[in-house]
Amino acid sequence: MFDLLIHNAKVLTIDGETVDSDVVCHNGRIEKIADRVDANATEIIDADGHLLMPGVIDPQVHFREPGAPHKEDINSGSRAAVRGGVTSFLEMPNCNPPTIGQEQLNWKIARASHSSFANFGFFIGATKENLKELNDANPVCGIKIFMGSSTGNLLVDDQQILDKIFSTGARLIAVHAEDESRIQKRHAQLTQNTSADIPYERHSEIRDAKTALIATQRAVDLSNKYGRRLHILHLSTAEEVNFLRNNKSAHISCEVVPNHLFLSTDDYASLGAKAQMNPPLRDVNNSQHLWRGLYDNVIDIIATDHAPHTVDEKSKPYPNSPSGTPGVETSLPLMLTAMVAGQCTLKQIQEWMCTGPAKVYGIQKKGLLTEGYDADLALVDIRAFQTVKDSEVFSRAGWSPFAGMRLTGWPIYTIVNGRVVFDHGVIREGVFGQPLSFHGSDIHD
Ligand code: DOR
Repeated sequence: MFDLLIHNAKVLTIDGETVDSDVVCHNGRIEKIADRVDANATEIIDADGHLLMPGVIDPQVHFREPGAPHKEDINSGSRAAVRGGVTSFLEMPNCNPPTIGQEQLNWKIARASHSSFANFGFFIGATKENLKELNDANPVCGIKIFMGSSTGNLLVDDQQILDKIFSTGARLIAVHAEDESRIQKRHAQLTQNTSADIPYERHSEIRDAKTALIATQRAVDLSNKYGRRLHILHLSTAEEVNFLRNNKSAHISCEVVPNHLFLSTDDYASLGAKAQMNPPLRDVNNSQHLWRGLYDNVIDIIATDHAPHTVDEKSKPYPNSPSGTPGVETSLPLMLTAMVAGQCTLKQIQEWMCTGPAKVYGIQKKGLLTEGYDADLALVDIRAFQTVKDSEVFSRAGWSPFAGMRLTGWPIYTIVNGRVVFDHGVIREGVFGQPLSFHGSDIHD
């Protein structure tokens, strides 16, 4: 008797092809993939010819717990994740108190073990004083450095401290690459002498392309100087892609978020502060360079930077409106819709959202639908378009910057460790994910 038997699926293979198969899951693993399996199972699903793919690994989310559960907590964030076919997430340290030592990490892991529907991993955040914890705390997917300020108070932009962090230890360092001194200078210049409301668009001018490029170059210099594994988070500009095209060594990887692929500064007109994020949206021509970076393997993976804030908070005038947008539940439908439109292939989506994140963070036996791997799966309907509606968003934030867009590729079932957690729009309560372990990255091996 197996745990789960899925009949009649279009299974996404390692090669990015689809093959009509049945899939058996048992003890959390993919036990068997075959033309036809006749066996007993506790649960049997008829996939009705829909696409069965590995669950998405979202390697950058902010779930706000502890500190701001009114925006999101691990439970609500993970509901949104599995609604969007995300079966594992890596969560950022800028909560309150921030995740800067073993104690806060233990708290999050204990909390997630009893409330997260998806599998989970956590970053440890760099401060000016926690060098020892950065390298001792376990398990962590990596060290997060905010080189430019964002939500929360984590910031390290002092060269001596950056040198110390990059030269000590070996674990992956993930950077929020925006240059703090340029942000401060431009913020002062571009928000002074005005009695009128400052338009939200000003945010993209203050944190301009050069702000991102300076910090990305600085992080690459540090990584090369010490041979240190570096991951550059949410690359947002053509300038960074062009720079990395010629300067990306084997120990460097980077990512892009859907907002920078599908939105632009034109969207401030309808979204206002809901378009405000760090790094900010760029002009409408910029996204084609990011797509090109993905096609050319300059950009390795896609993350969402899911960063929920409430509508009330977002209604504040600039600069008191917080930066960040929800996104964990829309990334897969956005990409599958782009695939249906001919912008990318299923094979690329699998690489960018499943196998790629597993490689970057050294997560074993995830990101592929193959026998012996963990049974983290999404059964998606790529034929039924649905309009994104704020009222249907699972995130506690209760809105999406993609509201109004017609997307296809929504999950019908999401399966975590061989157990159904999301079933036709409904969460199956009480089945929780597991802590991820990290085994050193092999991105360019
Ligand atoms: O816009 C952002 N919001 N960017 C970040 O890096 C942090 C995030 C947040 O936590 O709100």
